[in-house]
Amino acid sequence: MRELYSSVTSVLHPASPLARDIGNLFWVTFWISAVILVLVGAFVISNMIRFRDRGDDDALPPQIRGNTAVEITWTVIPLAILAVVFVLSMGTMARVTPRQDAPVDIEVTAHQWWWEVHYPGAGVTTANEIHLPAGRPIHVRLSSADVIHDLWVPELGRKMDAVPGHGNSMLLEADHPGVYLGACAEYCGAEHAWMRVRVVAQAPGDFQRWLSAEAQPKPSPTSDLAKEGEGLFANKTCASCHVVQGGPKLPASVVGPDLTHLRSRATLAAGVVANTPAALRSWLADPDAIKPGSYMPNLHLNGHELDALVAYLEETP
Ligand code: CUA
Repeated sequence: MRELYSSVTSVLHPASPLARDIGNLFWVTFWISAVILVLVGAFVISNMIRFRDRGDDDALPPQIRGNTAVEITWTVIPLAILAVVFVLSMGTMARVTPRQDAPVDIEVTAHQWWWEVHYPGAGVTTANEIHLPAGRPIHVRLSSADVIHDLWVPELGRKMDAVPGHGNSMLLEADHPGVYLGACAEYCGAEHAWMRVRVVAQAPGDFQRWLSAEAQPKPSPTSDLAKEGEGLFANKTCASCHVVQGGPKLPASVVGPDLTHLRSRATLAAGVVANTPAALRSWLADPDAIKPGSYMPNLHLNGHELDALVAYLEETP
């Protein structure tokens, strides 16, 4: 678990022009607020000291009613500050949001509790990992299959809600190849906290190689155990919810993650455990033990069936 989440994920460590733009806006707002806090704090404290009760004066202080100059001042100064922050915010929002007519690079559909990631140009679908080429802004189209979720990769860009029946757009960009961690940022039910996403930024050539590999169907299994697993995948109803391109049959609608190239992914269950054969076996044996409340059912598979399914799903892609 630790090695999956060892890197720092923070808006204060921006790794893209978009995130730096948002970070700069944060720092401008922070320093304006800090100056106001210090000025107001100093004024309040100095007045508390200056006008404290010294026990020697019971007379009423002068009774003042209204002061036009003061009222105009404390209206105009905040208005001016808010106008500056407003204009800066509008500029940042315009820069970190794609034009609506720009071509969509990646379609992300949020599900309880995982991310479906689709590359419309290549016909590739994967889950819980967004691969993208580093060095250019990527137009991500977001929607949801059930409730409202929110995609947030703090180092790479803004947050954006994934709303059922309503497409939203955002840009993601990474300066350099690397892995950037993100999460769902809108409470969406029992496993909201385990709706992690990994953005894998790659050199453009590496990204194209990855995309080409993902576009291939799963090769037919070679070992007897894996062949048996392929049969179980169809008969034990796995194939009712999960797509395996080149596998037994295709489900009518997307319920669970596409498992064609499951082996190529770093984690299982949207980031709960590292993707190893042993972890996959535990997951299949009792999903609730790893991710309570997930919609993956416990199919009460016996030990041999578990081995066969793991052999099928984890065989070299
Ligand atoms: Cu999905 Cu919170």
